[in-house]
Amino acid sequence: MKPETLEKNRYQTTNFPLRTHCRVCETSLVPFLDLGKMPLANAFIKPSEAETEYFFPLQCGVCLNCALPQLLFQPDPEQLFHQEYPFFTNSSSRMTEHFRLLASESSTRFLTMKQSPFVIEIGSNDGTLLSYFNGHGIRHLGVEPSKNLAETANHRGICTISRFFNSQTAQDIQASHGKADLILAANTFCHIPTTNDLFTSIKSLLKDDGVLIFEDPYLGDVLELNSYDQIYDEHVFLFSLYSVECIAKRHGLFVFDVERLETHGGSCRYYLSPNRNEITSQCLIDLRNQERSAAMNQIQTYRAFEKRIQKSRHDLCVLLNQLKKQNRQISGYGATSKSTTILNFCDIGPDLISYISDSTPLKQGKLTPGTHIPIESPEYFHSHKPEYAVIFAWNHLKEIEVKEQDFRHAGGKWLVHVPKVHIL
Ligand code: TYD
Ligand code: ZN
Repeated sequence: MKPETLEKNRYQTTNFPLRTHCRVCETSLVPFLDLGKMPLANAFIKPSEAETEYFFPLQCGVCLNCALPQLLFQPDPEQLFHQEYPFFTNSSSRMTEHFRLLASESSTRFLTMKQSPFVIEIGSNDGTLLSYFNGHGIRHLGVEPSKNLAETANHRGICTISRFFNSQTAQDIQASHGKADLILAANTFCHIPTTNDLFTSIKSLLKDDGVLIFEDPYLGDVLELNSYDQIYDEHVFLFSLYSVECIAKRHGLFVFDVERLETHGGSCRYYLSPNRNEITSQCLIDLRNQERSAAMNQIQTYRAFEKRIQKSRHDLCVLLNQLKKQNRQISGYGATSKSTTILNFCDIGPDLISYISDSTPLKQGKLTPGTHIPIESPEYFHSHKPEYAVIFAWNHLKEIEVKEQDFRHAGGKWLVHVPKVHIL
């Protein structure tokens, strides 16, 4: 089903040393999931680049000591967060509002009594979150490895350095700006493989009464929604409260609050501090209990997850092939990173899905990684309405349903794979 050019790529799993031990605690990892040969999730290609694509084995193991699923092989981060990283936070109105709320709430809760507070964001993207602090005259610094994003942020007046966050970066920031009152990170920590270095650096850069807040896709939601498409090269880890508490403990930090979020198809926000060791948050106590019942440190949980993933692939392929046999026109909606995992794992190419609509100009005119489905603009989607559209940006379902009411009115049907493959 895949285009012929794929077969020309030389790919052997033996070229990829798989990790055998947990990146945090060095306990042996238990392998549980093999999603096969995978390209980089955000490596949208020009048609001329089809023969030189990079593939790696997308496999997971879990550390049962930390209850922490992680990739067994991760491509070099230098390759991932390159000059042209195609995701701009600013492009989603919902995410912009989400970050405005995070900034205003954390500012009120943790900065009000501080004199000349200093805020750092790790993985600051185009500066959307920091723009709130900038607008309120609060000292801030963004750390963002992708050059195009850092430049965009600086143009908007958000102080940003284009570097990877590591111990050297932390030392340099401390020397030039001093220690931070608040460190923020959204959808960043699960991308960083060197967790211990990350937390050591944060601990050294955070004031004793400072607070670290970070949020990432939540393991509990991935297991519940069967959203295995959260697994791709950039997501090295799937965190839970249990694993974050394990990491915090190793680094002299305490998790003192948590919040479940709807963003990215289900995320969790963690509040950490070096000195707040009294737990008063009911949310945190409840989540600890929920995680205990979900048996996140038991291998059976992951074996069952793997079975559900196989069934999801089977159901999606059967449904798309049935529709195709009936000569239905099918397109995709949202050329997400997540879609790369689904399309490659399920072996879905342009013969089944003729194009994917995406609002990101950098993706339009390109092909999906590995499966080479053309990416078109929303305008193209409006003028070439298919009969069925697979929502790969299912995490924005509500926003999309409202925006694309005409598609429904014209008889179009949405197709989603979470929590089960179904037509909406
Ligand atoms: P995102 O939610 O960041 O998912 P991932 O992390 O898996 O890439 O990306 C959403 C993608 O969907 C992005 O490329 C923009 C696109 N999109 C649309 O094309 N239309 C929309 O209405 C929305 C909300 C997103
Ligand atoms: Zn571990």
